[in-house]
Order: sequence, then C-alpha cells, then structure tokens
Amino acid sequence: MNITLSPQSFYHKQNLPAQKPSFTSNYQVINNRRPYCTYFFREDLKWKSFAKYLERRFKGTEKVNVYNAACSDGTESYALIMSLIKHLGKEKAEKFFPVKAFDLNSQLIEIAKSGEIPLLSGIYRMAESLFIKLNMMFKEDKYFKYVTQPDGKRFAKFDDNIKDLIEFRRSNIFNEIARRNKNEENSVFLCRNMWMYLTDPEQEKLASMLSEFCGKNSVVVLGEYDLSTSKAGELLLKNGFEEAYIDKVYEKMV
Ligand SMILES: C[S@@+](CC[C@H](N)C(=O)[O-])C[C@H]1O[C@@H](n2cnc3c(N)ncnc32)[C@H](O)[C@@H]1O
Repeated sequence: MNITLSPQSFYHKQNLPAQKPSFTSNYQVINNRRPYCTYFFREDLKWKSFAKYLERRFKGTEKVNVYNAACSDGTESYALIMSLIKHLGKEKAEKFFPVKAFDLNSQLIEIAKSGEIPLLSGIYRMAESLFIKLNMMFKEDKYFKYVTQPDGKRFAKFDDNIKDLIEFRRSNIFNEIARRNKNEENSVFLCRNMWMYLTDPEQEKLASMLSEFCGKNSVVVLGEYDLSTSKAGELLLKNGFEEAYIDKVYEKMV
C-alpha cells in the first residue's frame, strides 16, 4: 500500500519558505538549528521510569518487538538502547533487541546507520552533551565516544556493539505498518513527535492501523508535541488503548 502524504507532511514542511525564527520556545529554537528536531534523551519521556516500566510490563515475556517510528537521525533509538542497558542490565535488556527503527527521510537514516550522530551546534551542543551525561550519569564512554572532525563538527560515535542492536530503514510509517502482520503481541511502538505532520484523516488512519497492528500486551508511546498539537492521544483512546501509569504511554491489554 502506498500513501500519498498531504501538504501538511514533513517533506512539504521542509520546502516552505524560511520563517523568521522565534525564541519563544525551546522547540522552535532547536528546530531552527536541527530542522528534523530531535535530541538525545528528549525530556518528554522519563527514560529511567520507562525502562523500569517495560521491565515490569514484560516480565515473563521471552521476546518483545520494539519499533521506533520517525526515528529521525537515530538519536531516539540510541537513547532507548542506552537507557535499557543502563537501567535493566545487558542480559535483561536483550529481549527488547534489535530495535526496528525507521524514518521517511533517507538522509537521516543514512546518518543513523553510520552510528556517527552530529551533536547540536554552539551553546546547544553544551546543553545536549550535559543532557546525555546526566542521563548516563557520566558513564557514556562505554556506549560511544565524542569525536571532532577537522572542521570542528562534533559527533557521538557509537560502538559497533551498540549500533548492531538497531535495524534502521527508510520507510513511511503507513507502509511500514501495512507490510507487517496484524495483532502482533508484545510489541512496543515509539511513535513520538511526528503526528503533527499528519492531517486529521491521516491521524485517524494511523491510530486505527496501530490498533490493528498491536495485539495483546502492546504499548504505544507518544511525544509531547503529539499531545499538544495533534489528536494522537484521544485517537488512541478511541481505538482500544488505555493510558498507562507512565505519562504518554498507551497500552493495549487484549
Ligand atoms: C520532530 S522529528 C521526531 C524525532 C523523534 N521521534 C523524537 O521524538 O525526537 C519528526 C520525524 O518524523 C519523520 N516523519 C514525518 N512523517 C513521517 C512518516 N509519515 N513516516 C515516517 N517518518 C515520518 C520525519 O522525517 C522526522 O525525522
């Protein structure tokens, strides 16, 4: 199935004339610096609580299928991997791997696959590095190294043993769900900060497709911008999901 994306989609937004930057919100400032707007350990998810929640939720389950939709340049997928290993330990985290991550934008997927993720520039880079350090409690070196290119650009370069835990592919979320079997049990679907690129009918279609795709004991996770600028939350509730005790996490029990 091929879905034609609406004028509200990410590609169309990218081609709009540049707007005067606004400094009224972090999102707009960072979005201006990194147009595909994402950063390590984005604070709209409580990473430690989420890892612990997954551990409890899937206790006794041998294999959990984890999807990271709209993964951008991979920062979200790498943050998830680091967080699961740090908070659950490598052995308990293993059943959540490999994470299947995808995004519409092929350039971002190439960056993600390379394992060398550019850090934000200037003062935002300091904030991002600090954010990573706080989340990793100063132990990030066993997952990646900071590298600086001759032109001064800085990257987080992930070790192969971390890179190999994620399968990145270029894909539109609608096609990706359509090509998979329905009613997949024990799945976790991160679908964060991307609903605002979809029209209302597309949002309704996505919620209904997620509901068909997710079988018993499955979880969908949203981002702050999905809740504030789209109908994602209410649509998931209409389509058989319930709010979990963790913020922005929706569960399908049966
Ligand atoms: C703001 S970023 C969000 C990145 C990350 N999920 C986060 O929360 O930080 C939005 C991403 O959604 C992707 N995207 C937009 N529409 C999509 C679609 N229909 N299918 C897959 N990815 C899409 C864009 O390419 C972009 O990388």
